Amino acid sequence: MVADDLAGRPPRASEVTFARTMTPLDANLLGKVHGGVIMHEVDSAAGIAAARHAGHVCVTVAIDELSFYQPVNVGDVLFVHARVNAVGSKSLEVGVRVEAEPWHGGQRRHTTSAYLVLVGLDEDGTPVRVRPLVAETDDDRRRERQAGIRRQFRKERIERLGTYGPVPGAQPAPRKP
Ligand SMILES: CC(C)(COP(=O)(O)OP(=O)(O)OC[C@H]1O[C@@H](n2cnc3c(N)ncnc32)[C@H](O)[C@@H]1OP(=O)(O)O)[C@@H](O)C(=O)NCCC(=O)NCCS
Repeated sequence: MVADDLAGRPPRASEVTFARTMTPLDANLLGKVHGGVIMHEVDSAAGIAAARHAGHVCVTVAIDELSFYQPVNVGDVLFVHARVNAVGSKSLEVGVRVEAEPWHGGQRRHTTSAYLVLVGLDEDGTPVRVRPLVAETDDDRRRERQAGIRRQFRKERIERLGTYGPVPGAQPAPRKP
């Protein structure tokens, strides 16, 4: 599907939640769920929310923040929730919240939060303009404001430290002709 218009949409129109049970295949050597497994779920959820908003396939271009607050156990059900917090002209910030609960019930814990930047691409792999985000609630406006602060921090970090981009002279990623 490709967006046929750029009419604004609220975050609730594209937010997504999915659940997956953690198995021994997801465990690290300590028997807890590997951080990389959770990062995969975070990235998948962010990609779905971003694509639903943009109407284009979206790729992750940066992760501004990712925190693991508590370990996740084998046998936990992971609930992964993603919503678009803010949009730029060609990028989106998606916030992802991960919660875990023993499969047989019990207390649900907030285990992970992450903020990812994604870019929508057209069929040729060229970044496309993203439709505006229409903040409807105080919560939407708070998230949009906080995303703006992260974007500003990112800009300042790049100004002070330089980019972590490819070495000068490296070949850019190929795009379809
Ligand atoms: C996504 C990609 C095509 C963007 O290319 P680009 O030449 O930087 O594109 P543009 O300069 O037009 O920037 C597009 C948007 O991305 C944003 N962007 C680019 N690099 C960024 C970075 N490192 N961090 C945050 N935002 C970034 C730009 O600010 C712009 O958004 P804005 O218009 O809202 O400000 C390119 O970086 C790419 O292919 N990356 C690999 C993505 C991928 O494969 N991800 C999967 C993990 S391997």
